Amino acid sequence: MKVKTIVIGYGFLGKWHAQKAAALKDSCELVAIIETFEPNIQKAQADHPGVKVLSHWQDIKADFDAAVIVTPTSLHHDVAMQLLKAGKHVFCEKPLASTTQQSKEIDALAQEKKLTLQVGHSERCHEAWEKLSEYFKLIEKDAILRINRYAPFKGRATDVDVVQDLMIHDIDLVLWLTGKDVVSVSAWGQKIRTNHWDHVTAELRLKDDITAFITVGRNHVEEERSLEVCSRKGLVKVDLFRNTISHAPADQISEGVFTQTESYAKRDHLLIEQTAFYASILQRKAPMVSGRDGVRAVELVEAVLSALETRSTVKIYG
Ligand SMILES: NC(=O)c1ccc[n+]([C@@H]2O[C@H](COP(=O)([O-])OP(=O)(O)OC[C@H]3O[C@@H](n4cnc5c(N)ncnc54)[C@H](O)[C@@H]3O)[C@@H](O)[C@H]2O)c1
Repeated sequence: MKVKTIVIGYGFLGKWHAQKAAALKDSCELVAIIETFEPNIQKAQADHPGVKVLSHWQDIKADFDAAVIVTPTSLHHDVAMQLLKAGKHVFCEKPLASTTQQSKEIDALAQEKKLTLQVGHSERCHEAWEKLSEYFKLIEKDAILRINRYAPFKGRATDVDVVQDLMIHDIDLVLWLTGKDVVSVSAWGQKIRTNHWDHVTAELRLKDDITAFITVGRNHVEEERSLEVCSRKGLVKVDLFRNTISHAPADQISEGVFTQTESYAKRDHLLIEQTAFYASILQRKAPMVSGRDGVRAVELVEAVLSALETRSTVKIYG
């Protein structure tokens, strides 16, 4: 059985999602692409000649089961709510919605209707996290995480700040990798090239005295994506750009050797996400990133933004 799917939004990321939906022939049938901007409509028609390209999903005559939402974030709530009300399963790109309230409404409706809702927190798809299961014993009481994600200015997504656009990936990673709740949030930032936050450092204090420092920036002098965990047991650093994991345990690895580095394979994250989405629908199992996870990430984005605006620490739990 195949999940009859539509992709909504054929922009920067939507074209890749449509490519994956078309490639996953065993589990998905790409029924239509929905796009409103004429040049992107033409591009979708040229890239997928056998697929209908329409401006509104309500105009689709054929039946379909699921939708992949890749519109600008400001439309996620409207589009997702309409689709869920119509009984369709939804994959929604991150952030789930612009606000916590909207995100909760989407999640609640998906649960009420018993439909799959999966959120596009694609950074969970790095092979590094599987290889790291052994090293993650390092995430114990008092561990310090440091995540850097920055790049030179590219002029993309300048209608939103870097917390909503980039840091949300790392917030989700911290919650997922540690499995701990956040107790409080502090943040510092700069608006450099746009009217929104372009460079932000956040300090997330989690239960068990775990602390995560996340820095994201879109006006940097170099490209860097890395995650580091330090505890009494040693230090592990994942270079998400070069796909390496380096490890410096508290004791030596073999005689005279204190560090080691291994490479891991680069993977197609969108393909992994969509494979999981269709499996969740067909096998009625939990999605790889739930609506609840999407809500928690948006909640913490709001907490970071509040900490930035008020220049104070925001308490979350406890
Ligand atoms: N997971 C990731 O790493 C990642 C990366 C990039 C973007 N995103 C997310 O994906 C979403 C889209 O980002 P993007 O960079 O592709 O944006 P984009 O602006 O390049 O593309 C959005 C597309 O949606 C179309 N659109 C607008 N209104 C529409 C409507 N009513 N119906 C159908 N199509 C409509 C636009 O014309 C455009 O082609 C955002 O929510 C963003 O946060 C996630």
